[in-house]
Amino acid sequence: MHSVSISGTGVFTPAEKISNAELVVAFNAYADRQNALHAEAIAAGEREPLPQSNEGFIVKASGIESRFVLDKTGVLDPDIMHPVLPERADDELSVMAEMALKAATVALEQAGRTPADIDAVICAASNHERAYPAIAIEVQQALGIEGFAFDMNVACSSATFGIQAAADMIRSGSARAILMVNPEICSAHLEWRDRDCHFIFGDVCTAVVLERADRAEAPGRYDILSTRCLTQFSNNIRNNNGFLRRTREGHMADRRDMLFRQEGRKVFKQVVPIVSELILGHLADNGLEPKDLSRLWLHQANKGMNDLIGARVLGRTPEEGEQPNILQDYANTSSAGSIIAFSKFSDDLKPGDLGVVCSFGAGYSAGSVILRKA
Ligand code: COA
Repeated sequence: MHSVSISGTGVFTPAEKISNAELVVAFNAYADRQNALHAEAIAAGEREPLPQSNEGFIVKASGIESRFVLDKTGVLDPDIMHPVLPERADDELSVMAEMALKAATVALEQAGRTPADIDAVICAASNHERAYPAIAIEVQQALGIEGFAFDMNVACSSATFGIQAAADMIRSGSARAILMVNPEICSAHLEWRDRDCHFIFGDVCTAVVLERADRAEAPGRYDILSTRCLTQFSNNIRNNNGFLRRTREGHMADRRDMLFRQEGRKVFKQVVPIVSELILGHLADNGLEPKDLSRLWLHQANKGMNDLIGARVLGRTPEEGEQPNILQDYANTSSAGSIIAFSKFSDDLKPGDLGVVCSFGAGYSAGSVILRKA
């Protein structure tokens, strides 16, 4: 069995950014229009008016201050309220592959690797813009990588599950090095017209290069000590979009349940113990204690949730920088969140320092990766 290192990471951040203030103005304009349109039904008590959103609530409930998106104009237009991403021809690069290539270029450079060193590509994300051919194979071809590629989806835990899948293949010898990418176009599966969740998500892409530790040369690399994945079925975060959703007329149905929806409070309550116990059990089984950790790179969905998980794992309030948040700038970016935190806040650790990358989300799914700076 080979040991595995993470030798490079990359983050592609879209150019367009939406502040809470801009988002709330758009939502409230949409709500006012809907309420004017349905004024009679509302006056007759047949319909509830749409309430206004507010910035103070968003920051207090989630810790989110802004988000990056691929298309700001569509999202902020009260008559549209979703990103408008023109369809691309079959011979053009797909949107997800384009994002993945940008993040991958940075990760490969950091790893000191070229496509010739890579044997496989995994595209791990919470939604894919088509069923097949796999986005990962498109990335493989665009980079000129030999070997194989495939897509996988474990919602917000796609990246940690992707790391485990890649690490297992490298450990067993079926690949020397693997590129794992997480292009997340969350803006296209978020219901921007729903006040309870319109502030939650943003778009981004992360990339991770994993390779045999005995071949890795990058100075800032991390060795993977152990990976652990866990799933437990829950309907509390769900998206019913899929290939069975055509109407009698052949159109895709336009239904609320075909975009992201959640029971946020239940998720909060149920997932915090699952994740804290996963990390603590994973550490214990590797002969480690929370005090041995220098950093927690947690999934980025809700600041309150992360604060609580950090406190439960460490047995005290995490100190400044011990559990970095990127949520305030990026919002929830599904599987990419913990990798952005790792990518941006891992250079300063010293050789031998330990940390955990941990994701959690729909499924439920949770993944823990114990890392040691090489
Ligand atoms: N502006 C103003 N008020 C709002 C609002 C908004 N945008 N959205 C909701 N509210 C209101 C609600 O209607 C509710 O009012 P009520 O008490 O009169 O019913 C009140 O604020 C509290 O709503 P609630 O949904 O209970 O808020 P919360 O404090 O639980 O925060 C989440 C909501 C979603 C931010 C929070 O539950 C969360 O993040 N949970 C974890 C989610 C998660 O990690 N999901 C994983 C996704 S991959």
